[in-house]
Amino acid sequence: MEKKRIGVLTGGGDCAGLNPAIKWVVKTALDERLKRTRKVEHEVIGIRDGWKGLVEPEGDGDPPVPRIFTLTEEMVRTWDRYGGTNLGTSRTNPYDPKKDRSKTVLENLERYQIDYLIAIGGEDTLGVANKLYREGVKVVGIPKTIDKDLSGTDYTLGFETALNVITEEIDRLRTTAGSHRRIFVVETMGRHAGWLALEGGESSGAYIILIPECDFDMNKVNELLVEGRRKGMRYEIIVVAEGAKPIGGTEIIKENGVDSFGHKALGGIGEFLADQITKATKIETRSVTLSHLQRGGAPCAYDRRMGRYFGIAAVDLIAKEDFGKMVSYRNGKITAVPLEEAVGKLNVVDVKTQYDIERYNGRRTILGY
Ligand code: F6P
Repeated sequence: MEKKRIGVLTGGGDCAGLNPAIKWVVKTALDERLKRTRKVEHEVIGIRDGWKGLVEPEGDGDPPVPRIFTLTEEMVRTWDRYGGTNLGTSRTNPYDPKKDRSKTVLENLERYQIDYLIAIGGEDTLGVANKLYREGVKVVGIPKTIDKDLSGTDYTLGFETALNVITEEIDRLRTTAGSHRRIFVVETMGRHAGWLALEGGESSGAYIILIPECDFDMNKVNELLVEGRRKGMRYEIIVVAEGAKPIGGTEIIKENGVDSFGHKALGGIGEFLADQITKATKIETRSVTLSHLQRGGAPCAYDRRMGRYFGIAAVDLIAKEDFGKMVSYRNGKITAVPLEEAVGKLNVVDVKTQYDIERYNGRRTILGY
């Protein structure tokens, strides 16, 4: 019987849902019944630390831990219960313009006899996968990012678990906010897309939601807050995405410099807002940055299920020899789209139909009346 090796890696920011996807890649690829019907025997190769695993496969440390190893069903049996990625991740970019190491990746795929590659990641990781596909690598992608900003899919792994974190944390803040009659500003992740802030704010019933797709007017935010108090509100919750900014302002940056994909580290808009609000309204305002808490914890039921379906579908694509595709969830169905489509442009909130620019909140008309 023909023998083939499937490499699997996770790249970019971690999130819940990665481990379930890896588990189901392994279980599907090694499935005995499918082996007989597909007439191919697979071995699954775990690649540690994202693209770094294919740039420096020998690993580091003393003695070095190799970044290429065989995954068995027994190894991954319990992985779907755990958050993060047991393969590790990195933001290594083999096509970094400062030091292009894409040739090394191609050589290592050859050296470790990796016939097919499954890349699990967001726009950066899948952008690399797409470039490798153009160079002849038989690659398929699985979408993940808590930001949900990949095109070509209605769902990206990690998003629902992150929303649950946001909702739970806001529930906690409500009691203390109410006791002290304070305003709380909750800063979520979301560099370019406001999905986490918008849907997190909707899930938790926030009073104001600010997203990168709609620059906000600071005076209007203050007016809405003062109006709330006039109407008898004891406290208010504002949810703001890290990439949101005031009209005429710029995004707030946490650290100078950019990563190998050219991204700045954002953070601080929550604190900025709290300060501006306290000064203008004299209402005591505090800010909380949820930061990496949103990426942590065990995957919720939805991420376990979607990880499973995406993992199975990725192996289906390999069995069908349908490369250069990303598995996707669209209109209630698991399907696949070209990687090119997924990474071409970001999926952001459509302010006209999905956001209320008067209230700075979720929409109040859904069916169009
Ligand atoms: O790309 C997803 C994301 O969650 C962004 O919203 C955020 O800016 C970034 O990761 C932060 O990641 P890290 O601190 O791990 O580099």
